[in-house]
Amino acid sequence: MKVLVIGSGAREHCIAWKLAQSPSVNKVYCAPGNGGTSDLGENINIKADDIESLSGFALKEKVELTVVGPEVPLVEGIVDQFKRKGLRVFGPAKELAKLESSKVFAKELMKEFNIPTADFKVFDSAQEAKKHIQNRRLPMVVKADGLAAGKGVIVCKTKEEAIRAVDIMMIDQVFGASGKKVIIEDCLEGRELSLLVFTDGKKIVPLAGSQDYKRAFDGGQGPNTGGMGAYSPVPFLSHEQFNKAVEVVFRPLLHGLGQKNKIYTGVLYAGLMLYEDKINVLEFNVRFGDPETQAILPRLKGDLPDIMNKVIDSELDKAELEWEKKSSVCVVLASGGYPGEYEKGKVISGLLEAEKEEDVFVFHAGTKMVEDSSGNSIFLTEGGRVLSVVALGQDISQAKEKAYRAAGKIYFEGMQYRKDIGGVVLSKAG
Ligand code: AMP
Ligand code: GLY
Repeated sequence: MKVLVIGSGAREHCIAWKLAQSPSVNKVYCAPGNGGTSDLGENINIKADDIESLSGFALKEKVELTVVGPEVPLVEGIVDQFKRKGLRVFGPAKELAKLESSKVFAKELMKEFNIPTADFKVFDSAQEAKKHIQNRRLPMVVKADGLAAGKGVIVCKTKEEAIRAVDIMMIDQVFGASGKKVIIEDCLEGRELSLLVFTDGKKIVPLAGSQDYKRAFDGGQGPNTGGMGAYSPVPFLSHEQFNKAVEVVFRPLLHGLGQKNKIYTGVLYAGLMLYEDKINVLEFNVRFGDPETQAILPRLKGDLPDIMNKVIDSELDKAELEWEKKSSVCVVLASGGYPGEYEKGKVISGLLEAEKEEDVFVFHAGTKMVEDSSGNSIFLTEGGRVLSVVALGQDISQAKEKAYRAAGKIYFEGMQYRKDIGGVVLSKAG
């Protein structure tokens, strides 16, 4: 089977790597891919949101399974387009990708289906939003409705901050049309985690729990990033809480959608806040998490394309997932300056040495494979997040030790990474 993975991050390299392990896969394409995926399969120079060219390529090459990494092509209807052309594709249709692209859509469904989430109100007028802020208790959270590259949520400790957040989103329109509507909601306390499930709309097959680290620096300091690390499983999530999360979050959502004749298929990701025995949903994403995927998939035993095909064919009732008992830790190595400005084109060394130890995997994100003057393949940095270094260990502390030992063998000028991934698993990850 020929498979196509769309995207260019470490998440996509990890998905491609896992697909390639299946005996049923003989060719992996990645569009546009990165240095790591060009080493594993073949990179195709088509952007992830160029749906027309991607479907044309998949038809021409007789690709039998396409997996979409990032949200933008899903939100723009890649699944609908591929299906119209008779192509097999893993992911939700455009109308349900709105669960991620419109926080208002997601929150209103949660309210309708009694899914626990922070109490909220929606505004399409800045004036009304500001009036509401005067009567709301602090702290409060202001969210832009649409996609905002992870920057559309502002937790506000004062009313002035909340008013500024409304101005940024609705008056200055920093996030464009994404800020036309805002949500103002209660601020929740607790510990965050990510729970992902495979679903064909009826059956739910949960993946192992994980937690990501969003801030740039140790201790949850510094600006928000695309994610600086992750681990799996989540020690503070008991078996009972895990099952409860599936029953109070995913079951009612999929059932409620089904009643409206809307069938969600693919992977569904819930960002959850856990406080004592209470579980609340912060957000839904309609795709695999990054970097959670790099921590989760190396623990998955079994055949990824097989389960994805069962999702597509509504045969998920025949699927079971088995997980390595081992824990994983993923450390993201980033370019100096990320998430602000950074330089590209730095030579990366130590990749082979890093992967020498058993159960250590290096997934590429912002890298490019080129030939040096002697004709050998080398890798250069090409983005903000450059590599995800993942290790499995008997427990999280052993996985952490191995991941950092491997990270220590890799070098490129300006390289920066957090030193505390997997180290504060019993508190908020940050
Ligand atoms: P979201 O994109 O909605 O998940 O929000 C991004 C981040 O903002 C989350 O991962 C949380 O850290 C934080 N956040 C969002 N909503 C809330 C809330 N109601 N209370 C506290 N923190 C929140
Ligand atoms: N790790 C957060 C996300 O993938 O949205």
